[in-house]
Amino acid sequence: MDRPSIPIIPVPPRHALDGSVLVHPPSDAESGAAVSDQYGRPLRDLRISVTDRCNFRCVYCMPRAHFGRGHAFLARAEILDFDEILRVARLSVALGVRKIRLTGGEPLLRRDLDRLVAMLAMLPVELTLTTNGALLARQARALKSAGLDRLTVSLDALDDDRFRAINDADFGVADVLAGIDAAVAAGFAPIKINMVVQRGRNDADIVPMAARFRGSGHILRFIEYMDVGATNGWRLDQVVPAAEVVRRLEARWPLAPLGENYRGEVARRWRYRDGAGEIGLIASVTQPFCGDCTRLRLSPDGHLYACLFAGRGQALKPLLRGAADDRMLTAAIAGLWRARNDRYSEQRSAATAGLDKVEMSYIGG
Ligand code: GTP
Ligand code: 5AD
Ligand code: SF4
Ligand code: SF4
Repeated sequence: MDRPSIPIIPVPPRHALDGSVLVHPPSDAESGAAVSDQYGRPLRDLRISVTDRCNFRCVYCMPRAHFGRGHAFLARAEILDFDEILRVARLSVALGVRKIRLTGGEPLLRRDLDRLVAMLAMLPVELTLTTNGALLARQARALKSAGLDRLTVSLDALDDDRFRAINDADFGVADVLAGIDAAVAAGFAPIKINMVVQRGRNDADIVPMAARFRGSGHILRFIEYMDVGATNGWRLDQVVPAAEVVRRLEARWPLAPLGENYRGEVARRWRYRDGAGEIGLIASVTQPFCGDCTRLRLSPDGHLYACLFAGRGQALKPLLRGAADDRMLTAAIAGLWRARNDRYSEQRSAATAGLDKVEMSYIGG
């Protein structure tokens, strides 16, 4: 497929990787069991996809043409059980992981998810989850009681027709808002709201979404539409650059930039000057953040991926279901991380467009 190359807008990445610079030399605190990759990036986050299934068919993620009746989802026996997931998580924590995010597909479709949350909550990590919100009203309280620390809810439009056209599964805005309300009632605060912006599809919702969540205590994040996977037919002209989103919002409410909450934060933060709270911009296309990327991903069937855009992962299942002891499993995870040199978003071009890439619904956002 012929795709245009990406004009990177002239905002330097926070820590550009030029192939020779060691960006984060490991500190004393990181030595010991902690591992760093080829660019000196430590392992800090583990994103665990607990299912490749979803009750939505978002046009930019699981288009029906590819994820309809004929699609081969993973069989139950292929998927890691909770003990296997906990084992990978526990060993990753020993290698430096401090934050775990549960994703999917739609993680709330995984049966007894609160039981997995309770198991992972015993680890010394911040435990978070990203959901489309449709099943949240039913599960928020159990997730909170099980020890989930934070929640991110995806919501791409406030206009009901546009939202239904995007999720293509007959879910309305009210379903997601009810989930958010239930999460607040269960004690989650603040909640992050993720909106993937596509030109012509939901950019008319940018200002209404900001108006709806200003002053609510929730943090709305605008995400540039990315060329993940191989099924969404991504085109550069569908990307609304973060700088444009900021310009559109500033015309209505003056904004001021905020600093990073922590090193490697994906979102660039802004606050409303009138005190109505903060928003985030996730600009993976126009302002790549690979230099600070500390994320390792685990697929539902036990493959480790060093990058969201990787073509293939490393299978851990033979080790998990074989005779490997913890030391061997740890060596496999550490070995993958030490060899890691991925920085896809910084290299994105017409040449990388045709590469084989894993689907987001399989590996998680
Ligand atoms: P917190 O700061 O802990 O709330 O999390 P986060 O901002 O890292 O979380 P989230 O998982 O909500 O990420 C938001 C979006 O950023 C995802 O849905 C992706 O679209 C994008 N994203 C997250 N991680 C990566 C990454 O490693 N690479 C790229 N290119 N995009 C990412
Ligand atoms: N580009 C950007 N974000 C995406 N997500 C899914 N597909 C894409 C894409 N192509 C986001 C979802 C959700 C998170 C899991 O990933 O909207 O917020
Ligand atoms: Fe939509 Fe998330 Fe489901 Fe993908 S995984 S189809 S983005 S709800
Ligand atoms: Fe990390 Fe790959 Fe995303 Fe870059 S493109 S931030 S290396 S996951």
